[in-house]
Amino acid sequence: MKLVNRLFPENKKIPSERDLKKIEIDEDILFDLEKIAIGSFTPLEGFMKKEELKSICEKGRLPSGNPFTIPILLQIKKENVKNLPEKGEVLLSYRGEIYGMIEIEEVYEFDPGYVAKKVFGTDSEEHPGVSLLKSKGNYAIGGKIFLFKRPKHPFSDHELTPSETREIFKQRGFKTVCAFQTRNAPHRAHEYLQRIALEITDGLFIHPILGRKKKGDFSNDTILKSYKALIENYLPKERVVLSGLTTPMRYAGPKEAVFHAIVRKNYGATHFIVGRDHAGVGDFYDPYAAHRIFDDYPDIGIEIIKVKSVFICKKCDGIASERTCPHKESFRESISMTRIRNALKNGEELPEGIIRKEVFEVLKKEYR
Ligand code: ADX
Repeated sequence: MKLVNRLFPENKKIPSERDLKKIEIDEDILFDLEKIAIGSFTPLEGFMKKEELKSICEKGRLPSGNPFTIPILLQIKKENVKNLPEKGEVLLSYRGEIYGMIEIEEVYEFDPGYVAKKVFGTDSEEHPGVSLLKSKGNYAIGGKIFLFKRPKHPFSDHELTPSETREIFKQRGFKTVCAFQTRNAPHRAHEYLQRIALEITDGLFIHPILGRKKKGDFSNDTILKSYKALIENYLPKERVVLSGLTTPMRYAGPKEAVFHAIVRKNYGATHFIVGRDHAGVGDFYDPYAAHRIFDDYPDIGIEIIKVKSVFICKKCDGIASERTCPHKESFRESISMTRIRNALKNGEELPEGIIRKEVFEVLKKEYR
């Protein structure tokens, strides 16, 4: 599929505040505006209209039939609706600076509770994705967008566009590339998945989310630095591409796994690896719901590599996985971020079987 390009044409004059009304957007929407424009969310050309939102909620597909599972909305609050024209263009500004515009096709009311149940499988406000959705207003603006300039942020230099990653994969001669989604610094279970990917495909594309995350998740800076430490010391550098993805984490479990796969396909990946409880939070999802959902998407256009739980097994004497270890539960020790965070809080050291020492050193700095 051809990548969507909604960068404002260079030969045209960018409209200003003298020409058009402007509305203020938040950082999450700014990042998604950019993602639409650079093709990360292909085939979307704008923020979703009511029909698109309904279709992804009910069918997990756009009205065109293309797989899509996460709402990409320009949400607004009721009190701001009256300031909008019913149709036509408005400028999109973040902290007073104009980044793009939307051609309003529709301003509509929707029910965040219904969307939450369909997308997140719950409307509980305990869920960070649900509470965020509900906090942003019951109205949305649907229509195609244009981006005037890319937002600058501390990680801009670590964020490649889909055209750039496609070009890099080509230059490096990768015929196949497996993408790895993460919102975390790497522990040994993540690394195990990455090594599986490296066995199967020519290149490994590590693509951590650097957008909004829930309280308690590591900072973007720590995630990038810890990955650099891992790649530098333990992975075949020439086969790995590391780049950030500024979009909010939604924590939508299976629905987000499909979305993550579609986005990585747009960046040029041919394979996508999905482990245990992908994009999950708390106990909201069955750990393998994010595997099963792909049965509904034989046409997704990217190969899904599914890996079940990865842990340390004392009998196997190393890292093993649900499908490769025959031993009883009692021999197994889990590898989890909760355990790593607890060790950091209590100033405890961890064995190399859980996390690489170079990576752990980076994480310690965040807790100092
Ligand atoms: S996620 O929200 O991005 O999924 P995280 O960064 O922890 O969270 O996970 C990145 C990928 O590694 C996901 O595909 C996840 O399923 C997988 N993963 C994380 N921990 C494990 C584990 N212990 N066993 C198997 N897969 C795991």
